[in-house]
Amino acid sequence: MLPYLDLKKINNKYELEFRNKFDSFIESGWYILGKEVEIFEKSFAEYLQVKNVLGVANGLDALVLVFKGYLSLGKLKIGDKVLVPANTYIASILAIELAGLVPVLIEPNIHSFNLSVDEITQNINSEVKAILIVHLYGQISEIDKIKEFSVSKNIILVEDCAQAHGAEFNKIKAGVWGHAGAFSFYPGKNLGALGDGGAISTNDDELFEKLQYLRNYGSKIKYQNDEKGLNSRLDEIQASFLNIKLKDLDNQNNIRIELAKIITSNVSNPLIRLPTFQNNGSHVYHIFAVLSENREKLKEYLNQKDIATMIHYPIPPHKQQAFKELNNLTFPITEKIHLQELSLPVNPSISVDQCLELCKVLNKYK
Ligand SMILES: Cc1ncc(COP(=O)(O)O)c(C=O)c1O
Repeated sequence: MLPYLDLKKINNKYELEFRNKFDSFIESGWYILGKEVEIFEKSFAEYLQVKNVLGVANGLDALVLVFKGYLSLGKLKIGDKVLVPANTYIASILAIELAGLVPVLIEPNIHSFNLSVDEITQNINSEVKAILIVHLYGQISEIDKIKEFSVSKNIILVEDCAQAHGAEFNKIKAGVWGHAGAFSFYPGKNLGALGDGGAISTNDDELFEKLQYLRNYGSKIKYQNDEKGLNSRLDEIQASFLNIKLKDLDNQNNIRIELAKIITSNVSNPLIRLPTFQNNGSHVYHIFAVLSENREKLKEYLNQKDIATMIHYPIPPHKQQAFKELNNLTFPITEKIHLQELSLPVNPSISVDQCLELCKVLNKYK
């Protein structure tokens, strides 16, 4: 069976370095907010070309903290509305609510799976104080126009970069366009730790200053708490693994891009809608998402051919039990995506030969 994502294989190449780091970690006797976190924050900031990066416990917390930071700075108020794509992973919407803000779900563009400036313009009103854009599946799109719009309306722009490490638009990376970007280092991400992890990127020094203690119980000086903060720190051991993997991120993304190029230039089956190939770095193919009218049939066909797939995501957030209050809303584009989306095993754990074989199988699907 061709697995959907073989993480052991992906991490194999770093194993010796991981083991060496682990030995030094044990030797050091320092487990929380040490020099590995500091090195990672500096290196990731340099990689992104952003002033500040702050390591936190996971991607959800990264988003919650950004919103809490702006609440604490008085730039947002409890109950303010935040635009968010209806087809995102549930974490984006949960984060808005966990911070005491109100998510306003809007439809994505069916081609990019991302928000468009037109959709944002149609949904803006005086109660909307922020936009949370999500670079879903690894693609960053229309961000120049969205940024221009948010500046013209004086609205806070936050980027959910959980799936888009290293994606760039006009040579500016995801996480640098908005007031802040939130990253997840969940193991399966393009830059994945060996456990949970997250980070916030920002050029806003005032926000960064707040976040430094909001992630640590709201405390600048030990046992003196100025604000109601969180316990959300990037683990020292995870930071040390990320320091190793960060150096290889562009290489890993390039492998994904090459494989995406092979599929998009070799597969021509009218029953399968492929993502358009972007060769300008604006898509890092975290998820290679295709649409097919009879998704279950395609999934079963691939399964019969020993090819594992996944669905991102089977139930849209507004139809989840957890969001009962949203269950009567209708978003036709979002619902179509959730009904037709299938994620193919396109990532650095597959070889070019396996990818070419996958193309043949996809072309034979009837
Ligand atoms: C779009 C998006 N946002 C946020 C998150 C949350 O990240 P984490 O699982 O690290 O909390 C994820 C995780 O998969 C995600 O895909």
